[in-house]
Amino acid sequence: MAFICLDIRCLCIFFMYTAFGYALSDTEINVNPPQDFQIVDPGYLGCLYFQWQPPLSLDDFKECTIEYELKYRNIGSEIWKTIITKNLHYKDGFDLNKGIEAKIHTLLPRKCANGSKVQSSWSEATYRIPPQGNPETKIQDMDCIYYNWEYLLCSWKAGMGVRLDDNYNLFYWYEGLDHALQCVDYIKVKGKNIGCRFPYLKSADYTDFYICVNGSSESKPIRASYFSFQLQNIVKPLPPEHLSVTMTSPNEINMKWSLPRGPIPPKCFIYEIEFTEDDITWVTTTVENQANITRTTNDSRQLCFIVRSKLNIYCADDGIWSEWTEENCWKGINDRWKKILMFFMLPLGFASVLVFLMSYLIL
Ligand SMILES: *[C@@H]1O[C@H](CO)[C@@H](O)[C@H](O)[C@H]1NC(C)=O
Ligand SMILES: *[C@@H]1O[C@H](CO)[C@@H](O)[C@H](O)[C@H]1NC(C)=O
Ligand SMILES: *[C@@H]1O[C@H](CO)[C@@H](O)[C@H](O)[C@H]1NC(C)=O
Ligand SMILES: *[C@@H]1O[C@H](CO)[C@@H](O)[C@H](O)[C@H]1NC(C)=O
Repeated sequence: MAFICLDIRCLCIFFMYTAFGYALSDTEINVNPPQDFQIVDPGYLGCLYFQWQPPLSLDDFKECTIEYELKYRNIGSEIWKTIITKNLHYKDGFDLNKGIEAKIHTLLPRKCANGSKVQSSWSEATYRIPPQGNPETKIQDMDCIYYNWEYLLCSWKAGMGVRLDDNYNLFYWYEGLDHALQCVDYIKVKGKNIGCRFPYLKSADYTDFYICVNGSSESKPIRASYFSFQLQNIVKPLPPEHLSVTMTSPNEINMKWSLPRGPIPPKCFIYEIEFTEDDITWVTTTVENQANITRTTNDSRQLCFIVRSKLNIYCADDGIWSEWTEENCWKGINDRWKKILMFFMLPLGFASVLVFLMSYLIL
């Protein structure tokens, strides 16, 4: 076995010598770094392109497909993202509140470099949108919610020290739009924009959604803020509807509800139920739109539950709980209560009929 392996290796080396012999000499094999390495901002508010040209003097490696190793990160982040590609471009999403740094080098495949790994020196590039205005002028507490997977709404608070003539503008972009669009339906307080109601967003989920809120001011510039998220991760569904509680056996309680209205598929929900038996409350979750519970005592008087919904992990990485529903109850009327009821209600009913008749007669 060992003999055969060795044999194959010899054969390979022999083959490489004949094929690329001219490139091999006593000097080391070198390759140049890619040329014109650039970070290009197409104005997509966070989606940036890297582009570069092949290295100089590639003639020695005509037979080879060279590869590039690209590394990049937001300045200040610990980890570099690493990509190996044969192309001359690459794109990814970034946080434009910070700068971006990237470096790239050429890789020669082993078969072109006498069996060893040869790489060039790095070409480097950085990019940063020149920050305007001082940081206090940025908006604060940006909050975006995709209501029921239908309507996106973002709201914010004005930064410190903004003046009367200042106002904020929101721009957004996602894959599929030619260019960044400005909000057309601002939420205003005293003429100032403090939020945006987005129009219908076609196929905007499961892709990065970028937002920039900058400002216009006559006196001093306003610092822009950049945000990015995926819409399915900020969905807040409507609460479930049509709650019901039924006793399926003396101690078994079945709680049921119907799906919230709207476009969210049934398999995307998780529900949280808060169940109260007299004074005891507990919470449980389920992915079905019903749940069974065994009551703890036979003479519990009141069984109530509320439920709320959220997207589950099969449809989104994250989500926002819906509001709770109204409480729905089953009121156990056991014998003792029946007696009490008979004792009080019957005479009371009789009395009110009497009062009614008498007032009618008097009138
Ligand atoms: C090529 O590889 C052989 C054996 O591995 C080595 O002796 C030789 O020095 C190498 N040549 C170059 C140019 O690296
Ligand atoms: C705000 O951002 C948009 C989109 O990038 C840009 O077109 C516009 O010029 C910016 N406005 C200001 C005042 O910087
Ligand atoms: C609850 O009980 C009902 C009737 O006993 C049954 O049809 C249903 O599948 C049960 N639901 C769950 C979630 O176990
Ligand atoms: C409830 O009553 C049934 C029969 O009426 C009995 O078998 C059961 O043990 C009781 N359960 C509790 C929790 O008291």
